[in-house]
Amino acid sequence: MREEIIKMLKKEGTVPLSGEAIARKLGVSRTTVWKIMRALEADGYTIEGSPRRGYRMLQIPDRLFPSELDAKLSSRIIAPDPTYIHHHHCVDSTNNVLKSMADQGAPEGTVVVAEKQEKGRGRLGRNWSSPAGGGVYLSLLLRPPIPPQHASPLTLLAAVAACIGIRAVLPQLSPGIKWPNDLLLGGRKVCGILCEIKAEMDLVHYLIAGIGINVNTGLEDLPHTLQSSATSLKLENGDRAVSRVAVAAAILQHYDELYCEYLEAGAAPVLARWREYNVTLGRSVKIQNQSGLYAGIARDLDSNGALVVEGDSGELRPFSAGEVVFGTQ
Ligand code: BTN
Repeated sequence: MREEIIKMLKKEGTVPLSGEAIARKLGVSRTTVWKIMRALEADGYTIEGSPRRGYRMLQIPDRLFPSELDAKLSSRIIAPDPTYIHHHHCVDSTNNVLKSMADQGAPEGTVVVAEKQEKGRGRLGRNWSSPAGGGVYLSLLLRPPIPPQHASPLTLLAAVAACIGIRAVLPQLSPGIKWPNDLLLGGRKVCGILCEIKAEMDLVHYLIAGIGINVNTGLEDLPHTLQSSATSLKLENGDRAVSRVAVAAAILQHYDELYCEYLEAGAAPVLARWREYNVTLGRSVKIQNQSGLYAGIARDLDSNGALVVEGDSGELRPFSAGEVVFGTQ
């Protein structure tokens, strides 16, 4: 009902729509319409209401509501309609929320978005700072028909989707991908991705891709320890605010297109795009993983998305997990 009212008001633009007309069209009472208008105002919509003329939508908040995201999407698998998008004002972690939905049978393409996370999680057990309204925190659910050994390209796909999505909204910015799936702007991290998987030996039950982007986050909103290594789209955009809805929708749209391509053509196109946008290959790197630190030159991705590093004596070694530190850092 709420979604329908938003659509009706947007369609009328500056022409007021009477409460009676809305009530008639939706088959509800005028009091119900009035209550929904109050709820929309509480959510940040500015609605002018005059008893004689009716309602006009004057301003739409930059919040990740299903109706706002859906209006910008024409996707086939990821959020094909607004019922797939679950918006929360505050959660512990969108990945956690989606995980319990997935365990209860939520369909592929389900998306959880939040304005704020209280326990945002990063890779390798780290936290992800998730202040209210500053970032985009979203998780999406895939149920790919593959064994877990073949899942790595899907984590790279998330980085490619975020990279292309951000470039589509802000063509003047050129984020690059640091293996496996961090996005950097000017050498600083603007987006991180945490992919989690539930699988048996030969089948993935589901994969959750959790994407966090610093959109309008100020440096002061980030922990001290990150202030020299992180940035936000706003800071890189000459301190001009960026639409979180536009960024989230663009990422979902590109995720959908890339995932459809992946299902039809396999991992090769994803890997090719990753190579196109990466800022890792050809550089001197140190890979930190459970077995220690390994230094070399990042040479390529193998067909499964592992980073192939050339050591001092020319030997090539693939890494399928770990953290890259650039030689100059
Ligand atoms: C990293 O770079 O360490 C990954 C950060 C991933 C953060 C996102 S925000 C949405 C989703 N929910 C979480 O708790 N984490 C991911």
